[in-house]
Amino acid sequence: MNRDVDRELAIETRDLTKIYGSGNTEVVAMRNASMKVSVGEVVALLGPSGSGKSTFLTAVGLINPPTSGQVYIRGQLVLDGSTAHTNLRAFRRRHIGFVFQKSNLIPFLTAIENVQIAIELNGESSRAARRKAMELLDDLGVGDRAENRPSMLSGGQQQRVAVARALANNPSVILADEPTAALDSERGRQVMELFCQVAHEHGAGVIVVTHDHRALDVFDTTYEMEDGRMSPPTHTV
Ligand SMILES: Nc1ncnc2c1ncn2[C@@H]1O[C@H](COP(=O)(O)OP(=O)(O)OP(=O)(O)O)[C@@H](O)[C@H]1O
Ligand SMILES: [Mg+2]
Repeated sequence: MNRDVDRELAIETRDLTKIYGSGNTEVVAMRNASMKVSVGEVVALLGPSGSGKSTFLTAVGLINPPTSGQVYIRGQLVLDGSTAHTNLRAFRRRHIGFVFQKSNLIPFLTAIENVQIAIELNGESSRAARRKAMELLDDLGVGDRAENRPSMLSGGQQQRVAVARALANNPSVILADEPTAALDSERGRQVMELFCQVAHEHGAGVIVVTHDHRALDVFDTTYEMEDGRMSPPTHTV
C-alpha cells in the first residue's frame, strides 16, 4: 500500500486485530483497533477488564505482535501483522518506554541498577548512566531506595522504579499499563504529570491505560475499548 508518512504522528495503528488460540479456544482479543497519537499528545485508554487494552498496548510496544494490522512509529512502518519491518528489539530499546501492568523489574538487580542497565544498553557509559538513573529515581521520589532490590520495595515504589526505567532513554513513545494502580492519588498524579512533561518537552507520544477516572483531566485525548473494539477519540477541552 502506498501512503504518505506523517512525521507529526508519534504512533499510528491501523486495524489491529489479535486472535489468541485457534478452533474452539479462539479468542478475538482486539478487532480493527485504530489510533493516531501526535507528537506531544497524551492519551488515556479506558475500558473494562478483558476488553483488549493490554493486548493493544503490547502490540504497539512491539512485544506481542498483532495477528493483522499495522503499527507505525514516527511515520515508519515497523510491524505489519506479525511481520517485523525493522529489528524490533533494537527499535524498542531506542524508541519505546514501557511500564507494564505488573512491574517486571529484574529481581537480582537493585533499583538503580534496573534503571542504569536500560541506559547502558543504549550505549551510555556506566558512570553517565548511573547519574541519570539516580536523577530519575530522585524525580520519582524513590532515590532513597536506590540500593534496594525490588523485593524490598512496596508495590508503589517498584512501579515508580519501573516508570524511571521507562523514561530513561527519552523515548519517543511511552506506553504505560495502569502505572498508578499501586499509587495513592497524589503519587499517581505526579507520575501522570511526569509523562505529560516528557511528552511536551521531548515530543513523545504517550498512551496510558487507566481505571482512574479522577485523573482524566491531565490527558489530551481519551479512547475506550470494549470487546476488542476501539472507540473514536474524545478530546479534552
Ligand atoms: N495469552 C493469551 N491467551 C489467550 N487469551 C488471552 C491472552 N491474553 C489475553 N487474552 C484474552 O484476550 C482478551 C483481552 O485481554 P487483555 O489482557 O488485553 O484485556 P485488558 O483490557 O488488558 O484487561 P485488564 O483490564 O483486566 O488488564 C481477554 O478475553 C483475555 O482473556
Ligand atoms: Mg490489562
